[in-house]
Amino acid sequence: MEDPQDRREGSRVPVFVQTAFPEQPELDNWRQMTEEEARLVYEMTLRNELSGGTPVVREFEARWREWTGLKYAMTLMNGSSALYAAYFGLGVGPGDEVICPTYTWICTIAPAVMLGARPVFAESDPETLQLDPEDVRRRITPRTSAIVAVHLWGNVCDMDALMEVSRETGIPVLEDCSHAHGAKWDGKIVGSVGHVGVWSLQGSKAVSAGEGGVLATNDAEIFERACLVSQVNRIGGLDLQTQRYAELQPLGLGMKLRAHPLGIGIALVQLGKLEELNRRRRQYVEAVEAGLREIPAFRPVRVYPKAERGGFYAFPVIYDPSEVGGLPTLEMVARLRQLGLNVSSSPYGLLHRLKIFAEGFDVFTRNRGPLCGDYPGYLEGDFPVTEDVHRRLIFLPMLSDPVPGAVDKIVGILRAAADLGSPHP
Ligand SMILES: Cc1ncc(COP(=O)(O)O)c(C=O)c1O
Repeated sequence: MEDPQDRREGSRVPVFVQTAFPEQPELDNWRQMTEEEARLVYEMTLRNELSGGTPVVREFEARWREWTGLKYAMTLMNGSSALYAAYFGLGVGPGDEVICPTYTWICTIAPAVMLGARPVFAESDPETLQLDPEDVRRRITPRTSAIVAVHLWGNVCDMDALMEVSRETGIPVLEDCSHAHGAKWDGKIVGSVGHVGVWSLQGSKAVSAGEGGVLATNDAEIFERACLVSQVNRIGGLDLQTQRYAELQPLGLGMKLRAHPLGIGIALVQLGKLEELNRRRRQYVEAVEAGLREIPAFRPVRVYPKAERGGFYAFPVIYDPSEVGGLPTLEMVARLRQLGLNVSSSPYGLLHRLKIFAEGFDVFTRNRGPLCGDYPGYLEGDFPVTEDVHRRLIFLPMLSDPVPGAVDKIVGILRAAADLGSPHP
């Protein structure tokens, strides 16, 4: 049978659906979706496994529990709904504050806002790009009800420091692992270190369901509350662990954020390939980073000693304009692109600069909600450390199965671009 992917332009099989980072498909042989995923979806459709806690959904959740070592796992529509269920599980609600890095995707924090909580942004470590635990500590108030550790771009937060803050204050830590499937802290899969872990399975993620999400935890209360707010009438496989909310079942709170089983079928196959994907991506990233040792204009992002990267959602490097006669980042990006390397500046802006968070917004109308009233808003300059490094990030293509010579080509272009110096006097 002809493979429909081979009919695509130039018959070069596309690699990842890439929403956040530059594509360079001619340098990559990885095929994100294969016959295996298609076959399972075909079989599930014929078995009419299309709704609820089907056997494949249950198998996926069991595999996720096994893989993370966590007691409870549930699938949801997407990472955003998994975050919503996690915040609800933690009891985040009106009047609360949630501390989150200003450098993350808006969906990390939006679900907390929808529950009535106010975002409190924090700085990131300029070398690792991860949430700065000391800045978190400074921003804690009696209203703080959660700290969100986002393992940004596949790197890992300093979980020892964040869990220390949590122990001292009693504030729980939610890990957003959407970029970092399979990353580890001190040998433990991220998502299993804090109080609850959340993963997006959206199409560009290392484990893709097309659209999907997972929540996992060891905490029965978080799990049960997440069930109540997301799994109305789910048949099979999601049993409450205590009697606390038994009388509300099976309808829970009547909210339905359940995953589509076909997407979870795809993710089940994808999970089986994650180790291989991570191994290949790690090898590629480390090879390029080794090449950067002799190009001071581009510095690899630092990794904490106890961290092992995973997922590798994107490949940022830190640009130092002073090494290239002050050439601004955007001009360096243009130069690299001209030389044939598909790079970009940061695909995400900083949340405190978005209008909604900078100026506030009447979320629930009639001047109610967390972003109006005494909401202070944010200004440019409020997060000088993160703002400075954010302006200097350059994202290289993330390759999963580089064609021979790809690393040399990429390092060669980076060196050539740095050696050209500044065109400005
Ligand atoms: C860090 C982070 N958190 C949450 C999400 C939300 O996931 P989803 O798109 O599956 O809703 C994303 C999506 O890209 C993300 O990058």
